[in-house]
Amino acid sequence: MASYRILKKSLKGKVSFGEPLSMHTTFRIGGPAKIWVEPDDEEDLKKVLRFAKKRNLKTFIIGFGSNVLADDKGFDGIAIRFSSPNFKKIHFEKTKVRAGSGLAVISLVLSCCRHSLGGLECLVGIPGTVGGAVRMNAGYKKNIGELINSVRVMDKNGRIKTLYKKDLKFGYRRSNLSSYIALEAEFNLKRSPKSSIVKSCNDLIKSKRQTQPLNKRSAGCVFKNPEGRKYPAGRLIDLCGLKGAKMGGARISSKHANFIINETRATSKDVVNLMNLAKKKVREKFGVCLEPEIIRL
Ligand code: EPU
Repeated sequence: MASYRILKKSLKGKVSFGEPLSMHTTFRIGGPAKIWVEPDDEEDLKKVLRFAKKRNLKTFIIGFGSNVLADDKGFDGIAIRFSSPNFKKIHFEKTKVRAGSGLAVISLVLSCCRHSLGGLECLVGIPGTVGGAVRMNAGYKKNIGELINSVRVMDKNGRIKTLYKKDLKFGYRRSNLSSYIALEAEFNLKRSPKSSIVKSCNDLIKSKRQTQPLNKRSAGCVFKNPEGRKYPAGRLIDLCGLKGAKMGGARISSKHANFIINETRATSKDVVNLMNLAKKKVREKFGVCLEPEIIRL
């Protein structure tokens, strides 16, 4: 414990011990993080990473916890959240925008709209941070990776570098950024009338509200859509008759079968049990192996 106190003393940002992850995930599930850090700036982050490396502690950037299933037992490492304004900066230069990875995706979309810059509307309705969206190549039809010029990253040794388009690889819900921490991304957007950006955003959010349980505690889509297959994951789970299936306090949404809802104090085990059930039934019926989209912590 003494060395953790040293970490606390050496940082400008917040450090706490045993912070409940259920407070920081959209599922509202998760036990305590051994160490919880909200670094004030990149210097702080560097110190945290060096501290972790020296003690062989895992680190995890939690963002808004919108794509995460944290274990009820907690996380035996350092959970990091970019809540400081230093990680949420946004800077416009002609049709380029640079955004800090702690910024909310929705703030980025709205700021771009105010500057009549279109392209990022595909991100509307995603309750995460810019860093998380970049790392997971989030989006719908168009994905965020297609609009990225460069990403400033920090490696696990605290060294900062910039990865340019030629260095970056994006696939369906994946990128080659997993060994780095994204600090800031630069996007190349297109001038577009505000009215058409607003319309695209409204249309997308309207269709998501109609088809997804956005007002419930969930982590978005649980499984990736199987690539090269006729049916998306939600359709496959639905066709197995699993809408509304319940385990403990968790339920497969009756609105969209690829969403699991924390209905009444669900545990991570309840969610995992439902995921296993969906995987098993889909494998038996369609011979398809569903791959989780949510990150287990
Ligand atoms: N469908 C069903 N039953 C269901 C759910 C869907 O039959 O329970 C059918 C729909 O009727 C539709 C098709 O499946 O014909 C596709 O459904 P939807 O349009 O909802 O799209 P999706 O493939 O299920 C993807 C992303 C979502 C994103 C929506 C935007 C993945 C895994 N999912 O969902 O992303 O919001 O498109 O429409 O890529 C996320 O990543 O967390 C996420 C929610």
